[in-house]
Amino acid sequence: MTDAVQTQSPQADAPNAGFTPRVFSGIQPTNHLQLGNYLGAVKRFVEMQDSGIETLYCIVDLHAITVWQDPADLSRATRELAAGYIASGLDPAKSMLFNQARVPEHTQLAWLFNCVARMGWLNRMTQFKDKAGKNRENASVGLFAYPNLMAADILLYHTTHVPVGEDQKQHIELARDIAIKFNNDFGVDFFPVPEPVIEGAATRVMSLRDGSKKMSKSDPSDMSRINLTDDADTIAKKFRKAKTDPEPLPDTADGLTDRPEARNLVNIYAALSDSTVDAVMGEYGGKAFSEFKPKLADLAVATLGPISAEMDRLMQDPAEIDRILEDGASRARAIAAPILKRSYDIMGILI
Ligand code: AMP
Ligand code: TRP
Repeated sequence: MTDAVQTQSPQADAPNAGFTPRVFSGIQPTNHLQLGNYLGAVKRFVEMQDSGIETLYCIVDLHAITVWQDPADLSRATRELAAGYIASGLDPAKSMLFNQARVPEHTQLAWLFNCVARMGWLNRMTQFKDKAGKNRENASVGLFAYPNLMAADILLYHTTHVPVGEDQKQHIELARDIAIKFNNDFGVDFFPVPEPVIEGAATRVMSLRDGSKKMSKSDPSDMSRINLTDDADTIAKKFRKAKTDPEPLPDTADGLTDRPEARNLVNIYAALSDSTVDAVMGEYGGKAFSEFKPKLADLAVATLGPISAEMDRLMQDPAEIDRILEDGASRARAIAAPILKRSYDIMGILI
């Protein structure tokens, strides 16, 4: 696949040969889902669910609170993300869908990992540096320890494969380091070494206003992103106003090299249409953005419109969403509890 950073698929033989393939990923319930989350994460969660492997998809509320969240917004965003998962094609009967706090084993294993990971490892995390900004002294301890909780999310299920966008690669590497150090420190072969699965045309969807910044739920400019909740007119307007250069589209993918904004729009088109950058260039090479952008908007509306309508419908019945999350959590706990118990045993902790 084009632009693949890490193309190991769950079928590949490899270092985790003794472990049953299992997929885990999570998204924070902050703001609305945006197109980067959808293309870089949720769409691929659905593909992995449909590949027949056991899949767990979490709403990581305990990660969200590493920066202050309005309590009412957090509850709403948790249910909205569950609705977004389901509306995008995750099936609660096939995948375990739950919010992290409903499985307390996540925080228990995270404490053990706080004692395994080294300060120096966490000091290197770029997401902490970005989020803490200049005033590091004022960042929460949770924000610093965030990657240890993320490692616990993953390793609590003996996860072998973690589908994420490119920005999460460093965190998965830390989870791998923790698994290896735990195994070495205690002379066991207990945790698998999880593989990031970062593939497809849209592992890093960029802002529509600045081709050097990733599209993000937390960008102050709403024009920088497409939200899954945007209506058709808003989506068309955002693409129409998306920053581009004055040249027409090039004939080949190579011609996109120094044109980040153009490359971003083409990547989005390729990912939305399950196609490749080369195929998109074959169709639109030489055409002006004034022709390409409306087609891109139509494609986005055709894909996202039904998802957002279904999210609205699901949000009418919050009790049903809660029931689904409760059920997903109880199935997840059945896997997590014995793995946590064994982790305590290995460390000599009596429970
Ligand atoms: P977050 O919104 O930070 O909780 O991210 C949830 C998931 O979406 C993670 O797997 C991210 O890597 C992915 N993601 C977030 N923003 C983007 C983006 N702009 N492009 C591709 N993937 C993204
Ligand atoms: N840190 C991830 C993000 O910001 C979210 C996350 C938390 C996650 N735990 C995870 C992703 C475990 C994959 C696996 O996007």
